[in-house]
Amino acid sequence: MQRADLDWENLDFGYRKTDWNIRHTWRDGRWSAGELTAEEHIPMHMAATCLHYGQECFEGLKVFEQRSGDVVVFRIEANARRMIRSCQKIFMQPPPEEMFIEAVYKVVNANRRFVPPYGTGASLYIRPLVIGTGPQVGVKPAEEYMFMVFVTPVGPYFKTGFKPVKLVVEDEYDRAAPNGVGDVKVGGNYAAGLRASLRAKAAGFTEVLYLDAKHKRYLDESGPANFFGITKDGRYVTPHSESILPSITNKSLFTLAEELGMNPERRPVDVEEVFGFQDAGCCGTAAVITPVGSITWGERQAVYCDGDVPGEFCTRLYKKLTGIQLGEEPDTRGWIRSIPTEN
Ligand code: PLP
Ligand code: COI
Repeated sequence: MQRADLDWENLDFGYRKTDWNIRHTWRDGRWSAGELTAEEHIPMHMAATCLHYGQECFEGLKVFEQRSGDVVVFRIEANARRMIRSCQKIFMQPPPEEMFIEAVYKVVNANRRFVPPYGTGASLYIRPLVIGTGPQVGVKPAEEYMFMVFVTPVGPYFKTGFKPVKLVVEDEYDRAAPNGVGDVKVGGNYAAGLRASLRAKAAGFTEVLYLDAKHKRYLDESGPANFFGITKDGRYVTPHSESILPSITNKSLFTLAEELGMNPERRPVDVEEVFGFQDAGCCGTAAVITPVGSITWGERQAVYCDGDVPGEFCTRLYKKLTGIQLGEEPDTRGWIRSIPTEN
């Protein structure tokens, strides 16, 4: 296999054309077999429900080349299950777990030359999505759906990579409401977050840290990632909230924090607590662990890092997580699946 000619060490987090994507359609009560195509566009009915009523959800997961040369995927079953939950919550036809996994394997194999080499810091980002393609004018679920998966080789989500970022507490705009759809991965949540995110960036911050919409007092999450803080006595604390996405990375870090003696806690986190943390991070598939250098809330600022140097706890967790993903540390929990070359 001739690897694609890309500057692997310097990839950003963006769309890059690859060879193939895969599509399954739901029509007349069944999913099609799954067609690989090189076509980047989707022919669509102008009254498709994804265009009008937001019937769309997506996933994000990563494939790595390990030191051994194995091509592996991290916790794929968890992404498959979360996509099923997202679909159910907005009344779309969910792709069965096995079909999801099979589709990812097929599309990775078809694009094997785009899997970044071990040691470059890059990975192959997998983007599955489900859209309502059937036409409706009244507000109701579509009768036809498309499940598709495309891939793109990526570098770090935040362009500074494993370097501290600046967060600002967003206490005006909300991303999601309790009992809404903030806990699933539907496109509308990201559209709702754009005004806060763009305003924060224009003011010189990297991203926002949302407060819960009901009390405006407890931490929710950042725009593209969950949040955790490390207390002065070394505990890993992450918000419990009905309106944040249950992050697979955060769940993994919670487990690793237990193992590292960081007595993790998932509970409501009062925004005042940010002034008592010694370290903090954003976490997610795209963000991996991004150390938080500072959090600004109105006139006040909590600072965790000395310039560009990531905090000690973020560094320890980052090494552990990426070590498992890259096969440098043993995978004792079955988080890693090797992608068979034939499927
Ligand atoms: N929160 C939001 C809003 C996200 O979009 C993501 C990314 O998927 C995460 C958190 C992190 O979730 P995960 O670790 O499962 O990628
Ligand atoms: C991911 O981390 O996979 C996501 O989907 C976040 C997205 C905002 C890029």
